[in-house]
Amino acid sequence: MTKIPPASPEYSIIRTYLDWVCELPWSIQTKDRLDINKAQRVLNADHYNLSKVKKRILEFLAVRKLNPKGKSPILCFIGPPGVGKTSLGKSIARAMGREFVRISLGGIRDEADIRGHRRTYIGALPGRILQELRKCGSKNPVFMLDELDKIGSDFRGDPSSALLEVLDPEQNFNFTDHYLDQPFNLSSVMFIGTANYTEPVPPALRDRMEVIELPGYTETEKLRIAKKYLIPRQLKEHGLSKNRCGMKDDAAIAIIRGYTREAGVRNLDRNLAAVCRAVATEIAKGKKRRTTITKKDLPKILGPAQFESELALRTGIPGVATALAYTPFGGELLFIESASMPGKGRLQLTGQIGDVMKESAQAAFTIVKANAKKLKIDPENFSKFDYHIHVPAGAVPKDGPSAGVAMFTSLLSLVLGKPARPDVAMTGEITLRGLVLPIGGLKEKILAAKQAGIQTVILPARNRKDLPEVPKEAKKGLKFEFVKNTNEALTIALNTDRI
Ligand SMILES: Nc1ncnc2c1ncn2[C@@H]1O[C@H](COP(=O)(O)OP(=O)(O)OP(=O)(O)O)[C@@H](O)[C@H]1O
Ligand SMILES: [Mg+2]
Repeated sequence: MTKIPPASPEYSIIRTYLDWVCELPWSIQTKDRLDINKAQRVLNADHYNLSKVKKRILEFLAVRKLNPKGKSPILCFIGPPGVGKTSLGKSIARAMGREFVRISLGGIRDEADIRGHRRTYIGALPGRILQELRKCGSKNPVFMLDELDKIGSDFRGDPSSALLEVLDPEQNFNFTDHYLDQPFNLSSVMFIGTANYTEPVPPALRDRMEVIELPGYTETEKLRIAKKYLIPRQLKEHGLSKNRCGMKDDAAIAIIRGYTREAGVRNLDRNLAAVCRAVATEIAKGKKRRTTITKKDLPKILGPAQFESELALRTGIPGVATALAYTPFGGELLFIESASMPGKGRLQLTGQIGDVMKESAQAAFTIVKANAKKLKIDPENFSKFDYHIHVPAGAVPKDGPSAGVAMFTSLLSLVLGKPARPDVAMTGEITLRGLVLPIGGLKEKILAAKQAGIQTVILPARNRKDLPEVPKEAKKGLKFEFVKNTNEALTIALNTDRI
């Protein structure tokens, strides 16, 4: 055998490789905490509610207690930003007594990022999975794969196909990293994926994981989270104690309503931090010894409220209908506006809307035209006027078929010269025959409607089965109307019985 001198490049490559192999936690693992009551206490101490996830984790621990060799589940948390997906991962690790590692897949485009480079490349490195395992020094951590929906792919390969092997319990006991070039057992790692949105997650990947949805919070839930978790944490971080700074419930509610519009609690947390900073400054200056923040103090600290109900401003004139949309950031109200002008019956669409939304606007236009006689609309309307549908806010890209009913209502309200009821919001896909098809994101949409002061929500009849899953508190005070076709929607939204 030829001897490689220590100064040569080959020597350093082999050294690095051997260091790597030796430092991997081939058989080192932490002991799981199998005391279920204790684990439950830890989970409850970190997060409010989220009972579905907590139950799943406790079930896993129970099974682990009975069958210590069992496979680890692969979970995927899907929900809007700031609902606690990442922090829940950390808490799970704490509850189970495992290490926690996290990689963000946002923007990863290269397969080698997951599976490593072959050692023949100069500067070759192992993939992120093994790198993190080496750093944490245990082969059974809770491993969070953050932002699964933002994974990219290009000519350098498709990282999601490399993840397929990592996330498959049937294959991952001999995961082979190109750099390492020998199998490493990943089966005792507990993988948890997170994503804001289900659609962009590659279907094959989604199929391998157990999806748990974390929908947004209602106002009361946010208040409880603020009181029990966020305020105490912010006080501690700012060196304040409960005796020095208190906050009235009405101030917290005013922050939730006037300074945040979100499904999660991240902005709420930020605003609470701003309030604590202001109080800390006063106390540090020696001006005050203790303060209780009330609603009246907020404008001085946070500036004027940023959000108010736009309902009264937007609706009340013919041609405007309120749709409910589901975005990665939670539910939102969309005010669909229609206008007409002299022309030849053409339809123009604006507001950065995607192809699917454009098509549902065209379908709505066709239904109105095709039923002109039945609706007692003068056919000249469609030969002497052009129509324009706009979906504000124009700077935000929007897509999806669920605004169909609202587009139809908006057009018809314009043509009939009859304003749509301002307290009604609607959602549903439409077909050319005028059928209303079911939609997704029901809880988010209902939460948004409630927050905006809507009283009646028009929903597709086939979504009736999903309503029990929406928390009672979100539904309180709202009236739900289930419709099978556009005619039924129209009767409610325009308060008309012309058809
Ligand atoms: N139910 C809850 N109880 C207590 N705190 C919560 C709860 N939900 C969220 N939080 C707090 O909200 C903050 C934001 O949560 P986190 O960073 O985990 O959001 P995320 O869901 O990962 O968002 P993103 O999709 O943007 O990554 C954290 O500080 C977390 O502690
Ligand atoms: Mg996160």
